[in-house]
Amino acid sequence: MEPAREAVEAGFTHLPRAETGSTNDDALAALRAGHPAPFWVTAQMQKTGRGRHGRIWTSPPGNLYATLALVEPCEQRHAAQFGYLIGLALHDAIAALAPSHAARVRLKWPNDVLIDGAKTAGILLEGHRAPDGRFALITGIGVNIAFTPGDTPYPAAKLTDVSADATPQALFTSLTRAFAARFARWRDAPDATLALAALREDWLARAHGLDANVTIRLPGGPREGRFVGLDGDGRLLLMSAGGIEAIDAGDLYFAGM
Ligand code: BTN
Repeated sequence: MEPAREAVEAGFTHLPRAETGSTNDDALAALRAGHPAPFWVTAQMQKTGRGRHGRIWTSPPGNLYATLALVEPCEQRHAAQFGYLIGLALHDAIAALAPSHAARVRLKWPNDVLIDGAKTAGILLEGHRAPDGRFALITGIGVNIAFTPGDTPYPAAKLTDVSADATPQALFTSLTRAFAARFARWRDAPDATLALAALREDWLARAHGLDANVTIRLPGGPREGRFVGLDGDGRLLLMSAGGIEAIDAGDLYFAGM
């Protein structure tokens, strides 16, 4: 793949790979070797793709494997916000390739993309230090386009189910545009509170399962309750008999998923 013109026009360099271990590892290696951020790394296939919680991310040719490396102005305190921002950009990009089915594309907390309730895309956020000590956010994005893995503990879907002509190249073009637009809106907000409020509102408008009964698996054990929204810091609000609890991170399960 040639470097994508749209990524370069939006101010990002693009390092395309044919086959690799993990684009997240490649991005970190490039950063440590002094490649200036922001940049994208993509691969046509990965041999050791990884998902959240140390899971394997099956990565045959035909799906999208992309990593975005950001150093500035993405500080550590913005990392969770960037999870929402990138999730929204990914939702925008997928919906743009399937405009007549956009309502079937939803976001699952914290940042999966679902089609008809089945996982189509996942995001892996990894925080590191750039060689000069600044915080670096390495965000890996995997999207099922032509293939769904057969071994997932949740229902999985693929983009060609709603957009017959979708390709990794077309989705990457759409994603680089969508991210650049979302990023500009975030950067140009009058202050950080308003920036997060706008992300929160946009995210909730696309959320899957708002008001549904859920289980959240946390290291200390599962919590059950009703998913009632996000707080001002972007934490999930879970309502149970004990009151409302704000949850930073965890794995969310809906009945039947
Ligand atoms: C998840 O578990 O939902 C996150 C999946 C993230 C997969 C992507 S594919 C590109 C990048 N490289 C990896 O090794 N993982 C991420």
